[in-house]
Amino acid sequence: MKEYVDRAQATAHAAAVVEAYERYVNPSRARLARLMGTDDIEWEAEGAVVRTARGREFIDCLGGFGTFNVGHRHPKVLEAVTKALARIPISTRVLLAAPLAQLAEVLAAITPGELQYTFPVHSGAAAVEGALKLARAATGRKKIVSTQGGFHGKTYGALSATGKRSYREPFEPLVPRFEHVPYGDEAAARAAIDEETAAFIVEPVQGEAGIIVPPDGYLRAVRQRCDEVGALLVVDEVQTGFGRTGYMFGCEHDAVAPDIMTLAKALGGGIFPLGAFVGTERAWRPLIEEPYLHTTTVESLISFEAALATIRVLQEEQLVERSAREGAYFLAELRGLAREFPDVVHEVRGRGLMIGITFARDGQAGFVMAELLAKGVLTAFTLNNPLVMRLEPPLVITRRQIDTVLERMREALAAARQVLG
Ligand SMILES: Cc1ncc(COP(=O)(O)O)c(C=O)c1O
Repeated sequence: MKEYVDRAQATAHAAAVVEAYERYVNPSRARLARLMGTDDIEWEAEGAVVRTARGREFIDCLGGFGTFNVGHRHPKVLEAVTKALARIPISTRVLLAAPLAQLAEVLAAITPGELQYTFPVHSGAAAVEGALKLARAATGRKKIVSTQGGFHGKTYGALSATGKRSYREPFEPLVPRFEHVPYGDEAAARAAIDEETAAFIVEPVQGEAGIIVPPDGYLRAVRQRCDEVGALLVVDEVQTGFGRTGYMFGCEHDAVAPDIMTLAKALGGGIFPLGAFVGTERAWRPLIEEPYLHTTTVESLISFEAALATIRVLQEEQLVERSAREGAYFLAELRGLAREFPDVVHEVRGRGLMIGITFARDGQAGFVMAELLAKGVLTAFTLNNPLVMRLEPPLVITRRQIDTVLERMREALAAARQVLG
């Protein structure tokens, strides 16, 4: 990778950027960057490595919260994007977009069950909005059941499904007729999902709640309940999709097929923002009858090409299998560290390369995160539970890089023990 032109120049540039964040983006964001030592400019990246303008190098163990599954700037995704850029980057929306047709066909083939039709959007929240609207229109019912601690985005519909009070309260009243049940609790879901329910929306592994893995069979049980009462099952794969959990889609762990699946993050190959909701014939009926019922203007052919290349890379490089294999190794080694540092680490859990570390006490997660940053490893909290540090590296992370992260993690945990007692 190239060096930034000049170190002193880079340092001055970084200081100017922090100041501009302070004045024009958000002062709290600038303060946090100074506090955590992230007051540097991201400059270049490839695979699982990110470099800053000042030449600091990080192993990316966060992976853009599940965005960089094929790594940063995968050459095949770059090539596909560059070709589209040279021809027609944005759809006219009057003529037809061949890569959209191709992507929809590929998604129908790789998603489970009868999922068939695709509607492209630009974010996870927009995918969830579309899914919830469609569920109401397709069933003629109003009630939506979701899970406590669940995260589905922050637009009004998605936020109404999201289960964190402090994100919800300032914006109330939210969309009516949403109910939240404890995650992983089959009986609670069965009781809440009834003949008035349009949909149950659920993550196969809760991400922002703190990487919470439900009991085996949970999704099968809620699938069955939805079928009993005619409700739709919406599986939110925005974070778990595209190999993250060691399956192409997280719901495959329970061999369950939803009526609607929401996708985003990794779908755009870490190069373009792209989301989608994918549905069965039954779910799609309202849109088939009135295709302008739900629309958005800009369709990026570049993002569709990026998605097609991403899916090819996942398959050719067997990244889903790799996620399962390397995830099992990482998880086992981290559990070993948890046994060494029981006063610091409370629990390590996860599936595939979606791993959460729960710390024993307030302050420890932030401390360990800052230590890891100083040692060249990027991680982050989960949004709905700051006691949990998440590790979601690109699926291309090598065994050697994982071992380096483990070494630095051991040092960070030892420092936490020493400094925080
Ligand atoms: C499961 C899930 N759904 C939806 C979203 C919202 O996606 P976005 O941030 O792209 O709007 C997220 C984001 O973290 C997510 O994890």
